[in-house]
Parts: sequence; structure tokens; C-alpha cells
Amino acid sequence: MPEPTQDLHALPPEVFAEHVHSFEFWFGAVQGYLEGRPYGHHADLAEPAWSDAERERLVTVLCHYGLGETLALEGASGLIRVAPNRPTQVFLATQTVDEGRHLEVLIHRLSELGVAAPEAEIARRASPELQRFRERLLGFVDSGDWDAALFAQNVILESAEFAVFHRHARGADPITREVLLGIIKDERRHLGFGENELGRRLARADSLRVRLRRVRAELDPLVLASFARTLDALGAPDAERTELGRDYLNAVGRLGIA
Ligand SMILES: [Fe+2]
Ligand SMILES: [Fe+2]
Repeated sequence: MPEPTQDLHALPPEVFAEHVHSFEFWFGAVQGYLEGRPYGHHADLAEPAWSDAERERLVTVLCHYGLGETLALEGASGLIRVAPNRPTQVFLATQTVDEGRHLEVLIHRLSELGVAAPEAEIARRASPELQRFRERLLGFVDSGDWDAALFAQNVILESAEFAVFHRHARGADPITREVLLGIIKDERRHLGFGENELGRRLARADSLRVRLRRVRAELDPLVLASFARTLDALGAPDAERTELGRDYLNAVGRLGIA
């Protein structure tokens, strides 16, 4: 049995198929970082003394993440219907649970920051690029296009979330950092699943590579524009923007779909 913390894309396909598509693997993976952390963080972590402007900026960023997790929840659950086999469906069921948890902890974090109606606030501050991404992703799911939907959800969206949460966690307050680090561990697993599934399918069909290249060309600008909004809200320096864009492009480019 592979270690739950191991990079999934590095596993041989037969080991991956046998173990990773199971709730047993999932339990082993999440237990260590969820236990004792209600709503994603230890209860005794202190809230910093926020200025109104700082709190406002963090609320905007968490609202962006909230929309990202909403569409990950809708995407992962929708993918269960178009998945090609039962083990893949079971993995997506575990992912759906993860995405629901991510949304829940972000909504709770917004409440901790004094937001009275977090869901309304997420809708109000949603970026148009992420809304467009949501339409495209759900369009792929609704048309039963497994390859494009899996690529958009488990490679592009997961790479984007992984990169931005990772960058943000480095300079975040202790509570937000712990919440984000817990989410990142799940996103890594989701990304590994997407890379492993699509990697095997790409090895069999060159035409798929051409098609996914087109999907990427459409979705990359939406991801990069969403990053710009999030980094604006965080007040990040220019160097940080370049690094974040590079982190994302490197992660999403690992499948060789340039
Ligand atoms: Fe997520
Ligand atoms: Fe995810």
C-alpha cells in the first residue's frame, strides 16, 4: 500500500488503480491532518489584530477561493456520472467529500472574519473569469466529455488552486495558513489522480493531446486573470505574480500539453 502522502503521479498504474481509488486510502490520507482541527484549524490559534483594510482584502481572496471550491465540488460530483469505470467513480466520490469540506472550512473562515452571509459575499465578489471557467467546466461535464472535463477539473483547476494556496499560505496569518495547508494536501491528491488518469490515456491517443491543447489554450487565460485579481487583493509584489504564473504553468505542463 503506498503512503497517502506520496506523490500519486509517480505511482505505477497498477498500484495506483488497486489502492488509490478507495475510501481506505482516503481515510489513511486525511486522518493525520483533519483530526483535532474543527473547520480546518486548531481551535487555540489566535486571530491577528486586523485593520479593516487587511480584513477586507482577506475576505475578497477567500471569496475567490470559495467560488473555486464551489465549482470543484460541482465538477467532481458531476464527473462521477461520466467516469469510465467504478474505481474512478469511487475516487471522485472521495474528492467530492474533500471539495465539500474545502467549501465548508472557507465559509467558516469567512464567518470568523465577521462576514454575516458568506455565501452571498462569495457570489458578490466572484471574479468573471472564474464564472466563465465554471461554465466551461460544467459544459464539458454536461456533454459527457470525460477527457476535457477531467483535464479542466483535475489538472487545470487543481494546479491553479495548489499554486495559489501554496503561495498564499507562506505569508498568511496562522489560522488561514493551517486551513490552506490542509486543503493543499487534498488538492495534491486530486491533481495526482488527474495526471495519472490522463497520462495513461494520452499515451494511447495523440489526437487527445491536440484536443486538450485547445482546452488549455482557452482556460489558461482565465486562470491567469483570476490569479491577477487574487494577487491584487493580497497586495502581492510583481515578482510574486510572475512566480505564481510560473508555478501554475509548470504544474499544468507536466502532462506535456503545451
Ligand atoms: Fe478543493
Ligand atoms: Fe480539489
